[in-house]
Amino acid sequence: MEPSIPMHDEDEAQRPPSKRLANKVAVVTGGARGIGAATAKLLAQHGAHVVVADILDELGATLADSIGGRYIHCDVSKEADVESAVELALKWKGRLDIMINNAGVPGPPGSITTLDMKQVMHLLSVNVLGAVHGIKYAAAAMINGRRGGSIICTSSSAGIMGGLGGHAYTLSKAAINGLARSAACELGVHGIRVNNISPHGVPSEMLVDSYRWHLGKMDMTAEDVGRIVGERGSSLRGRWATVEDVAEAALFMASEDAGFITGHNLVLDGGYTSAVSTMSFIYQNRDKDTA
Ligand SMILES: NC(=O)c1ccc[n+]([C@@H]2O[C@H](COP(=O)([O-])OP(=O)(O)OC[C@H]3O[C@@H](n4cnc5c(N)ncnc54)[C@H](O)[C@@H]3O)[C@@H](O)[C@H]2O)c1
Repeated sequence: MEPSIPMHDEDEAQRPPSKRLANKVAVVTGGARGIGAATAKLLAQHGAHVVVADILDELGATLADSIGGRYIHCDVSKEADVESAVELALKWKGRLDIMINNAGVPGPPGSITTLDMKQVMHLLSVNVLGAVHGIKYAAAAMINGRRGGSIICTSSSAGIMGGLGGHAYTLSKAAINGLARSAACELGVHGIRVNNISPHGVPSEMLVDSYRWHLGKMDMTAEDVGRIVGERGSSLRGRWATVEDVAEAALFMASEDAGFITGHNLVLDGGYTSAVSTMSFIYQNRDKDTA
């Protein structure tokens, strides 16, 4: 028998407006710091019970304690680790509603002619296989739970536009975009939504380290990186994305506010990948137009 998908989530219909995820259970991979940590915090503020899954044990455990969540050591490149993270959510609260496949690594930088294939394989094992593992075990748990669910992968603006990341990183994020669409196609009948969010230029430790390395300025701060993105990498001049901006997008995708959205890639890039400013002269009035 085909499962029946409720049009509206009744749990959410009864929740106070400030708690958009009351009683939901979430796993956030790469949740110890950066975008993942901001997301874990925001989900918890909205009433979700959050399992933080990461390889940075001290940071992850401290964060999990601070939000009333659980921490598990989980290297997403290892299938069994991801299975254990999902099992922890099920043992702890008996359900899984939200899976955020956010863990990711940058690099290797440099020319495609000299790529170190060992580093490429490592990156793919984290960024791509990590997401495959997350979708696989979350989907199985959600299908069993028969309540639907929301699976979100952190992709990147680099997944839709060349020149924004190293070759292997770009490949990994484009692969996640295909994976999410494919999984959304299969899992929709179970009421499971699969979406991506694609941040761009968020001055997290990952991005700041990368700017320091590329520009050879080891004293660059997050603010310095943000300002560069705001000036050169955003149509919203001077505005760049914060980890909280990305967390808000994840909250939206996780909640019933996005209840009819699946197979979508929500790009948070200040318009950068949709616009080209080299032709901006076309928006200038000429004297005869204004006369
Ligand atoms: N910062 C940006 O501008 C930006 C832009 C686009 C996409 N992203 C993506 O956002 C996600 C989060 O990145 P961030 O910017 O917060 O960087 P970050 O380095 O601060 O956070 C990454 C987190 O993933 C964890 N992690 C790394 N390898 C792991 C593994 N094998 N298993 C489990 N956890 C692992 C790290 O320990 C860390 O907590 C990544 O997928 C990244 O590719 C970031």
